[in-house]
This record gives sequence, structure tokens and C-alpha cells, in this order.
Amino acid sequence: MSLEVSQKITIQKVKNSKINQVDFNNLPFGQVYTDHMLVCDFENGKWSSPKIVPYGAISLDPSAKIFHYGQSVFEGMKAYKDAQDDIWLFRPFDNQKRLNISSKRLAMPELPEAYFMEGLEALLLLEKDWIPTTKDSSLYIRPFIFASGNGFHASPSDKYKFIIACSPSGPYFGGKLKVLIEQHYSRSANGGVGFAKAGGNYAGQFYPTNLAIQKGYQQVIWTDDTTHEYIEEAGAMNIFIRINDTLITAPTSDRILDGITRKSIIEIAKDQGIAVEVRNISVHEIIEASDNGSLKEMFGAGTAAVISPISGFGYQEKDYVLPELDNTFAATLKKQITDIQYNRSADKFGWRYSV
Ligand code: PLP
Ligand code: COI
Repeated sequence: MSLEVSQKITIQKVKNSKINQVDFNNLPFGQVYTDHMLVCDFENGKWSSPKIVPYGAISLDPSAKIFHYGQSVFEGMKAYKDAQDDIWLFRPFDNQKRLNISSKRLAMPELPEAYFMEGLEALLLLEKDWIPTTKDSSLYIRPFIFASGNGFHASPSDKYKFIIACSPSGPYFGGKLKVLIEQHYSRSANGGVGFAKAGGNYAGQFYPTNLAIQKGYQQVIWTDDTTHEYIEEAGAMNIFIRINDTLITAPTSDRILDGITRKSIIEIAKDQGIAVEVRNISVHEIIEASDNGSLKEMFGAGTAAVISPISGFGYQEKDYVLPELDNTFAATLKKQITDIQYNRSADKFGWRYSV
């Protein structure tokens, strides 16, 4: 840590830890929170020194702009503990940069790298006993910034809060996903905020996703907003499609989140000699590939979900089933990325970050 921010971080510890109440062998995703959180306020045009305080409720005025105009951005990261009890992050500077990309789009102040990284490291060192070591578990980290200034005027807030909260978590999904290719609703639009991790992007997905759930699917596959012909994302994941032995994923754009898992998978796959095409892929190409047997796999990729295989998809009232393969790209790539994340293999790409 540099001395720039870390020396100024104040720590108020809890009197009694909740850690003994947690069943680390049976962790849900994102529902148990650690003892402390990091809080940093933006006021009068600058960020104050970060504080680590007991995890708990925040008091806001009913006119706070977050409630009315939705200025809110977040990140999703994980801390991993290896067999030697060392703590690792995965490409954390990419999350830090993306938080600022999101903030800029929502007319929110950018957060200097040192506040993010040094605040996060100080919090993780304090909460290190909360990082689970049970299989497929990790400490899910949620850094977020929201408008805490008051007023009904529809203009950017003058005050913001940056908070990092942590949750020891198990897997995001229980098993393979059955997905619905969306033909009516859009997650994002050209010139919009789809590339940002803005809270409202998720609110807008809930209603169409609920409709899909009512029909027996777990997730929506988002298509482009203009033609609904091209595959874009899978809920809160980027999507990969394997046709024969080629892995295809949509190029990032205004409408698609530049996922850190996605770009890592592209690099790992290429390094393994797997052909990767970053290009638009249409629903019709997928259906044709399903009909002629060349569609081998589809999977979502994201921090929370890691790599989540898709068992089948619905499109225009018809269901398509993917084959059950013995050796999948999804399983191989998941093993390779998680081996790097949990420090079980060499990190030839230089992605692992020691806390
Ligand atoms: N796409 C969306 C909309 C997401 O919310 C996420 C989750 O963060 C991703 C993709 C995957 O991004 P990453 O791999 O950086 O977690
Ligand atoms: C993540 O993968 O970390 C995300 O932010 C997705 C989330 C909405 C659970």
C-alpha cells in the first residue's frame, strides 16, 4: 500500500464479531455480510478519507437523489483464499477502472485508484477470516457509489457515498440454466448506459426476467434493441456460444458490459488453441447450428456466476436442447480461470493480485 490514502483510513471495529453465527459449509450467494464496511463520502468536490465502520444501515434523507434519479453504479469482485491462507484478487484494477467508466456516464465523480485499492485492501485484511475456503466459495465484494445529496431537482447530486461491502458466498446458480431468447424487451440501447454497471440496468431486467421465469426459464438472453436478431448478454453475464470447435462471443459496445471474465476467457481459450471469434452472432445462426448438430455449448460468464453452462433455450415458443458432452469448453475454461483465481496454478497472464 502507498501512504497516500492508507494512512488516513480510520478503523472502528465491531465489539462482537458475527462470524460464529455463519455456516461456512452452506453459504448462499450475497446474503451474509461481514462485520465491517468501508465508507467514503464525496462532498464539496472531493472525496474524504475512507472509514472502516461496523456493517450496518445508512441513514438518508427521503429527497436523496439516489431514490429519485437512480445515480448508482457498482462493481462485483471476489477475494479468494489459497491453501496457505494467502488472499488474492483477480484483475482488481479493471474493476476500479470500470467503476469510473460507469460513474462518468452517470455524471458521477470518479474515484481515484488509491481510494479504491487501498480502501479495499485495508477492509480485506480486517475481514480475512471471512474469506471462505469451502469449495466454489469466495468473499464476494460489492463496491458501489450512489447519490446521497438531497433535492427533487432533476440534476446530478452534489454528494455521493462510496461503500465496499463484502459477503462470504457460495455459487450464484445451482445448476445448468434454461434461458429464453428475448424478442420484445431490451436491456440496453445504442447511446444508452448498457456498458455501465448502473443499478438501473438491473431494475429494467427484472420484469422481463420474471416473465421468463413464469414460463420455466431461469434467465433471459438479451438481443440487440433494434432488430432482436443478435445475441448480446445473458442476464448479468456475458455469453459464449460454441459452434463445432469455435467459441463465439458478441463484441462489446454501448449496449454490452465489458466483462472481466469474458475478456479473460477469450485470452485463456486462445492460449489453449481454441478458435475464438468476437463477432455478432444471430439467433438464426444458433438455431441452424442447433438443427444441424453443430451447436455444442452455450454458457454465461461473469464474476458472480463464473462460467454457467446453459442446458437449452427457448425462442418463439419453441425449446431447443443443447447436447450433453463429456468434455466441455465450459468445464475446461472454468477450471483454468478458477485455478488462477484461487492460486492453484501458475498465473501466466499476470492477473492475480496479492493482498
Ligand atoms: N454483463 C453484465 C450485465 C453483468 O452484470 C456482469 C457482471 O458483472 C457481466 C456481464 C460480467 O462481468 P464481469 O465478468 O466483469 O463480472
Ligand atoms: C457480478 O458478476 O459480480 C455481478 O455484478 C452480477 C450481479 C448482478 C450479481
